Amino acid sequence: MSGAGDRGKALARWLSTGLLGLFLLPMSLSLEVSVGKATTIYAVNGTEILLPCTFSSCFGFEDLRFWWSYNSSDTFKTLIEGIVKNEKSDPKLKLKDDDRITLVGTTKEKRNNISILLRDLEFSDSGKYTCRVRNPKEKDLEHQATIILQVVDKLEKVDNTVTLIILSVVGGVIGLLVFILVLKKFIAFILKKTREKKKECLVSSSGNDNTENGLPGSKAEEKPPTKV
Ligand SMILES: *[C@@H]1O[C@H](CO)[C@@H](O)[C@H](O)[C@H]1NC(C)=O
Ligand SMILES: *[C@@H]1O[C@H](CO)[C@@H](O)[C@H](O)[C@H]1NC(C)=O
Ligand SMILES: *[C@@H]1O[C@H](CO)[C@@H](O)[C@H](O)[C@H]1NC(C)=O
Repeated sequence: MSGAGDRGKALARWLSTGLLGLFLLPMSLSLEVSVGKATTIYAVNGTEILLPCTFSSCFGFEDLRFWWSYNSSDTFKTLIEGIVKNEKSDPKLKLKDDDRITLVGTTKEKRNNISILLRDLEFSDSGKYTCRVRNPKEKDLEHQATIILQVVDKLEKVDNTVTLIILSVVGGVIGLLVFILVLKKFIAFILKKTREKKKECLVSSSGNDNTENGLPGSKAEEKPPTKV
């Protein structure tokens, strides 16, 4: 409510965006195009598959152009081409090569999603699909990302070995950390118990200790230099 509170909030927001910015700095300084983590996707013939593509630009965009193209060993063709007027509008298609393709993404609400859906997959659809984006607002900077589609007659069991290894390593590390934490707690507990016992001894055996401890600050002043 108060000005100071608002300023505090603004500062906090500024700091958090700043920190976030630091993390994202190498990634989003300019136009970026992404097809997600998977470089190859597998799909069964006759079914449909979403070919993902998103882009980001910290400068915003205007009349942004985009393409999806297909490239295999013997063919290169542009599948779909479009233009996005601005951040508040959805893409307008200028070209669509195939009825089996639908642009399913949206560019409204900062989704920046120009994914396409490919229906009735045929084996000949296997190949490289490249999503390209050009932003006039950034000196026609152009970026692209490629995803490989493999049309198969049935999905093989996905080889998860690497994922499993990573997961078990991560799990092991987390387990170890938890173990160390528990161990620390346990040791601290034991130490506290023994210290409590000692304290009891001190209090009960010597009256002098009490008076020394009773001088406030004297101990606290002594301690820091030994720490530094
Ligand atoms: C996919 O291909 C296999 C092998 O050619 C065929 O037997 C099957 O009917 C096809 N499935 C569809 C849905 O077209
Ligand atoms: C298509 O892919 C081939 C093989 O990877 C590559 O040599 C060629 O440059 C690509 N064509 C285009 C237009 O990107
Ligand atoms: C893009 O849009 C499609 C269709 O709505 C959706 O399935 C997909 O998850 C979206 N991708 C991202 C990264 O938001």
